[in-house]
Amino acid sequence: MSQRPNNRRVLERRHFLAGMAGSALVPLAAAQPPRGESRATPAQTLGPFYPRDAAERPRETDADLIKVDGDRVLTKGVPIFLTGRVLDRRGEALADAVVEIWQCDANAVYHHPAGGAEAERDPNFQGYGVTRTDASGAFHFRTIRPVAYPGRTPHIHVRVAAAGLAPLATQLYLADDPGNRSDFLFRRLAADEQAALTLKFEPIDPKVTHPLAQATRFVARTELVFA
Ligand SMILES: [Fe+2]
Repeated sequence: MSQRPNNRRVLERRHFLAGMAGSALVPLAAAQPPRGESRATPAQTLGPFYPRDAAERPRETDADLIKVDGDRVLTKGVPIFLTGRVLDRRGEALADAVVEIWQCDANAVYHHPAGGAEAERDPNFQGYGVTRTDASGAFHFRTIRPVAYPGRTPHIHVRVAAAGLAPLATQLYLADDPGNRSDFLFRRLAADEQAALTLKFEPIDPKVTHPLAQATRFVARTELVFA
């Protein structure tokens, strides 16, 4: 019998409670934006594995969540170049916004004190990273394609903080993952909200020369719009 504290039942309950707390604050379906404005990215719960202080963060917290030795990727999973832009409702780029991501490793373990069996952690995965947007509102990470987790469909958590705005937290999903349909957080979204939170995947283009694109197999794009 596994002693993993992150068994499906406990987690579903924890996520459910976190989701309930969030749903009191976040309307299920955002109102249509006024003409000329973008629709705000739907917010989703931070979940139980957001590092709320330094003790819950990994030693390294940069934008490169994987380890590569020459051309050899040491981290388990499919390496991806995750790139996105942070915008306000008028479509203006938000520079110098703080972008954090976190996700479980390829063994479905979160690198968080409550994240599950430490012995099963992939030591070559960072689990969490933080960066800032550039002048064009762009941010970049090197990480792995998200994997399913007990009770959850594959997802990457993201939290963005920009000056003068309430932080935006949400989760990014894979298109057509069979787990999406039964995921209790994904399925409560309207179709357009699901689309807004679905990563756009393409095979990596050799023309992408960003250092964090090196040794990755896919580029995954997103756009995050503050309310
Ligand atoms: Fe999660």
